[in-house]
Amino acid sequence: MNQSKWTAVDTYFSNLLVHADAILENTLKRCKQAGLPEIHVAPNQGKLLQLLSFSVQAKRILEVGTLGGYSTIWLARGMRAGGKLVTLEYEPAYAKVAEVNINEAGLSNVIEIRVGVALDTLRQMESEDTEPFDLIFIDADKPSNPEYLKYALKFSHMGTIIVGDNVVREGEVINEKSDDPKVEGVRRFLESMGSNPRLSATAIQTVGSKGYDGFSIAVVRN
Ligand code: SAH
Ligand code: DHB
Ligand code: MG
Repeated sequence: MNQSKWTAVDTYFSNLLVHADAILENTLKRCKQAGLPEIHVAPNQGKLLQLLSFSVQAKRILEVGTLGGYSTIWLARGMRAGGKLVTLEYEPAYAKVAEVNINEAGLSNVIEIRVGVALDTLRQMESEDTEPFDLIFIDADKPSNPEYLKYALKFSHMGTIIVGDNVVREGEVINEKSDDPKVEGVRRFLESMGSNPRLSATAIQTVGSKGYDGFSIAVVRN
């Protein structure tokens, strides 16, 4: 098995099932043109985020890590009417690209991009008594994942779904001796999910156009 086969299967699934439209395709084009790193979710993963959003009938979504807004648009498209999505991004230049993409998608009225260090923004949201979210997607700097999980729990209600991207990284996640802060962050994130009685969680390995990686998914039980 190899990367070209994984990509070909992703293309097959995407053509049959995903139905990404011109708005999403243009979103990726603008990201590329602006020189953003190509670390957005794959189309079939974006569709999964939308399906999760549909299935919890999300009215409030939190995303940590906007990049050019690709996953953001998928998530927001799954929200119920009157919903609101808050997405956090550190790089002002990326947030600008996301803003254009979100405008072009006609979603600027339902998506709020908050620019800054996510941990600062989250602390601020806490002081603003932010209402709980129905779905939370954690996809920013991995060393901060354990902290993001703490905030995700603070901003949750029973039934909130917490998705974490990039928990496998070509299998590096099982390297206990890794001194890579990304790996350490993901490992502590998974450990605290697994040991938190409020959460029921799992993680899934994936191969596809984005290589060998995976995601975690947790449901808040009380
Ligand atoms: N969710 C996006 C991809 C996000 S990539 C998608 O799938 O389309 C990760 C993003 O997190 C990058 O844009 C990066 O700038 C941002 N990021 C990194 N560290 C951050 C921090 N401390 N606070 C907020 N955003 C951060
Ligand atoms: C990286 C970050 C991501 O969110 C991703 O999906 C892939 C790669 C990174 O920082 O390298
Ligand atoms: Mg990611």
